[in-house]
Amino acid sequence: MRYVLVGTGNISNTYVAALDERSGSELVGCVSRRGRALPAAPDLPCWPDLASVDRPFDAVILATPNGLHHQGAIEAAELGKHVLTEKPLDIAVVAMDKMTEACRAAGVTLGVCFQRRTSPDNRVVKALLDDGQLGRVFAADLSAKFYRDQGYYDSGDYRGGMALDGGGPFMQQACHNLDLYAWFFGLPEQVVSMLGTFAHQIEAEDHGAALMRHGNGMIGTVVASTATRPGFSARLEVHTDRGSFTLTDDSISFWDIEGLANPGRQDFQYAHDGATSASVTDTSAHQAIIEDFEAAVREGREPLAGAASARLTTELILQIYRERV
Ligand SMILES: NC(=O)c1ccc[n+]([C@@H]2O[C@H](COP(=O)([O-])OP(=O)(O)OC[C@H]3O[C@@H](n4cnc5c(N)ncnc54)[C@H](OP(=O)(O)O)[C@@H]3O)[C@@H](O)[C@H]2O)c1
Repeated sequence: MRYVLVGTGNISNTYVAALDERSGSELVGCVSRRGRALPAAPDLPCWPDLASVDRPFDAVILATPNGLHHQGAIEAAELGKHVLTEKPLDIAVVAMDKMTEACRAAGVTLGVCFQRRTSPDNRVVKALLDDGQLGRVFAADLSAKFYRDQGYYDSGDYRGGMALDGGGPFMQQACHNLDLYAWFFGLPEQVVSMLGTFAHQIEAEDHGAALMRHGNGMIGTVVASTATRPGFSARLEVHTDRGSFTLTDDSISFWDIEGLANPGRQDFQYAHDGATSASVTDTSAHQAIIEDFEAAVREGREPLAGAASARLTTELILQIYRERV
């Protein structure tokens, strides 16, 4: 698969390295509105927009701010190119609808880089939950207490703003953890949240908590933050009528479910920068997303994080923002 990378910022470095590692995947060049070459691949060509790309390519990777993903996806779909977008799908329902419809109409694949779904432990938990093997879940408590300094927010004038980031840690950093929450448990029926801005000069929240009740009675909680210094591993604690388990980052760190041995891959661990940094230096999960995306294109199936399920994550985050008290 031949890719054009749209955006030349922080996460572009992860894609250059991930594509470099994969045989059969090729990075053709980048689109930069400023005419900036890719920092990690300065010799590759650079175009001002997708329509100007004058080399053959099959797909785009959208590495632009959250609120621009729909724009890039629609442009790519109109050119008949497949779309792998960085998370989230987008930050507004109408934008997600438009990009999904454009890709559907053009017959191209739309995948989202929610790379934590590729972790073996997250996948096995998802399969066991879907299969009802973990019993009746009555509580799920997510803690995504990260830290970013003001310099991070100052590194882009859109960072921490509602227009393009679409929010603070709920929409941006903890988006991955809320994605797993929505992937595992679906959307709640009732939400109440409290949000505040404590440690940064930004428009959006930098800390908050939400309480959620699901249709089956399950009560969920989430704390998301970029104000909790020094930044902590993400934890998801789940309680069912058969016992409890905990995921720390993307690995099962505690397991006590009646009659079921710990299904976790004890030997597996992604290196996580996310608690304290926007960089993603362990490219293995991005590689896994690219591998799944290419298989989805070949097989004509939905990617692991397709538009329909990735959309739930943004919906959940918007619900949390809307139900703020
Ligand atoms: N999956 C993950 O773990 C992960 C981690 C970090 C970030 N992300 C996601 O990746 C995307 C990009 O994040 P990033 O940290 O790489 O951001 P970034 O460093 O600000 O880079 C974004 C790039 O988008 C381009 N761009 C086009 N229009 C822009 C505009 N109006 N304002 C600012 N930039 C614009 C810019 O490149 P040009 O000026 O050259 O066009 C810029 O370098 C976001 O959606 C973010 O959520 C995902």
